[in-house]
Amino acid sequence: MIRFEQVGKRYPNGHVGLHELSFQVRHGEFLFVTGHSGAGKSTLLRLLLAMERPTSGRLLLAGQDLSSITTAQIPFLRRQIGVVFQNHQLLFDRSVFDNVALPLRILGLGKDEIARRTLIALERVSLQDKVEGFPSDLSTGQQQRVGIARAVVHQPALLLADEPTGNLDPRLAAEIMGVFEDINRLGTTVLIASHDLALIARMRHRLLTLQRGRLISDGEAA
Ligand SMILES: Nc1ncnc2c1ncn2[C@@H]1O[C@H](COP(=O)(O)OP(=O)(O)OP(=O)(O)O)[C@@H](O)[C@H]1O
Ligand SMILES: [Mg+2]
Repeated sequence: MIRFEQVGKRYPNGHVGLHELSFQVRHGEFLFVTGHSGAGKSTLLRLLLAMERPTSGRLLLAGQDLSSITTAQIPFLRRQIGVVFQNHQLLFDRSVFDNVALPLRILGLGKDEIARRTLIALERVSLQDKVEGFPSDLSTGQQQRVGIARAVVHQPALLLADEPTGNLDPRLAAEIMGVFEDINRLGTTVLIASHDLALIARMRHRLLTLQRGRLISDGEAA
């Protein structure tokens, strides 16, 4: 599903965010990317979203070469990907339903199909009883779950998350990671950038460790 071949990213100011990174991810995998602040975790995710281009090497996502993707192809690429942010970035003047339905409205789906898929996504994060509520009526963990529902509502093949539990206490962080595992069990490939090593170690998934833009280990978290 993902293939990094000697991928390098040098920013315009000359700073090198990633050095000759090579690894592969199979369909349906669940993996973490960790490393200290500045190690290159967000750079890696931004390359997958084509928010940045590699400056060397080749990056393939589902067979598509992101090193040479055109601006016109980017919307099609993003339909295959869901993204969860540390700050869930919900719209507080819209209902839970409308927040989750937004990506489907952008895709131009019909009203019934939007309602059907939005309810399924909210069920997947156990928030079916909050459909009519507003984000401000929800707890922090519930708000983050709305963010996850919005990220998977268009049924992406790949779910990316950048520090999705950074603002949560340990119990809520573990609960949110459980939601990601549930989504992965249904077939979605999940890649999470996190520096919560205690939590990662408990979950026993594949772990990539970056250090100053280099991949220094790849294996099951110990
Ligand atoms: N737009 C940019 N221009 C120049 N340098 C950048 C840019 N974005 C990131 N960098 C640099 O690239 C390196 C990797 O940054 P990145 O944001 O990927 O780190 P990170 O692992 O996500 O860190 P954190 O844990 O703090 O989020 C850092 O040294 C950073 O300063
Ligand atoms: Mg980051």
